[in-house]
Amino acid sequence: VASEPISSEEGLKEFYDDPAVVESYLEKRTGQPFNSVLHERQVRFLNRVIATFEPGAIFDLAPGPARLGAELDFACLGAAMDASANMLALARARNERKGKPWLLVRGDAFHLPFRPGSFDLVYSLRFVRRFALTQREKLYSEIRRVLRPGGHFAMDAQNRLVALPHRLARGLDKYPVYDELFLRHELVEELEGNGFRVLELEPMMRRFTAQFRLNRLRRFGLGRLARLLIKALEFTSNGNNPSTWMALCERRD
Ligand SMILES: C[S@@+](CC[C@H](N)C(=O)[O-])C[C@H]1O[C@@H](n2cnc3c(N)ncnc32)[C@H](O)[C@@H]1O
Repeated sequence: VASEPISSEEGLKEFYDDPAVVESYLEKRTGQPFNSVLHERQVRFLNRVIATFEPGAIFDLAPGPARLGAELDFACLGAAMDASANMLALARARNERKGKPWLLVRGDAFHLPFRPGSFDLVYSLRFVRRFALTQREKLYSEIRRVLRPGGHFAMDAQNRLVALPHRLARGLDKYPVYDELFLRHELVEELEGNGFRVLELEPMMRRFTAQFRLNRLRRFGLGRLARLLIKALEFTSNGNNPSTWMALCERRD
């Protein structure tokens, strides 16, 4: 019998603080061709947002091992908060190596230790979607509180039309942690209903089925070719049914 995915706040913290999860996290997210293209697309997206809006203070909510933060170009205050001491230790080492001056804080996303309006830009990836609606609403409310009016918020979301059939085919036991999957209009309504104006939904991994198949070439020592082809496929679709979106929002007053 398949076990239920982890969805409690404590369960999630415990899962991600496990040294085995921490140690394998970056390799899993950036090592394989498919995931490395998605990672690169997300870094580019965030760097573009930073270059466009020139925030004075950025907050990375639940950075894990600074997968994104260590790759970003910013010249302002950067704060990042995660519940996991083990993730933060790795984040600190990576940020130091890359010369990125993030202020790292350990804490709980449901009780952010910052004053209202502290940040111009908040982003949070692979995190908000880990929770059910009631908890997501609490997170949106905390994010809104620490964001100045008119400030920006970016997060990722998975497209149910693409992700669900794929996950069912692979077996849901491969997904130990709760992951909300969205239809496009549900994502927009959820963000708009929680005090944000959606400015942009950038489609990523636009030709998922073909791109995921190409990922298998790595098993034959063709990882670099796979990566090139997966990347090239991003340019051959209008992105109306991608596997994931990056949402960019603005805090409404
Ligand atoms: C899937 S990882 C995402 C890491 C990173 N944002 C990324 O996109 O690669 C989720 C992170 O959320 C952190 N986390 C889980 N529950 C948390 C909570 N209540 N408050 C703060 N961080 C939490 C975990 O420690 C983990 O580092």
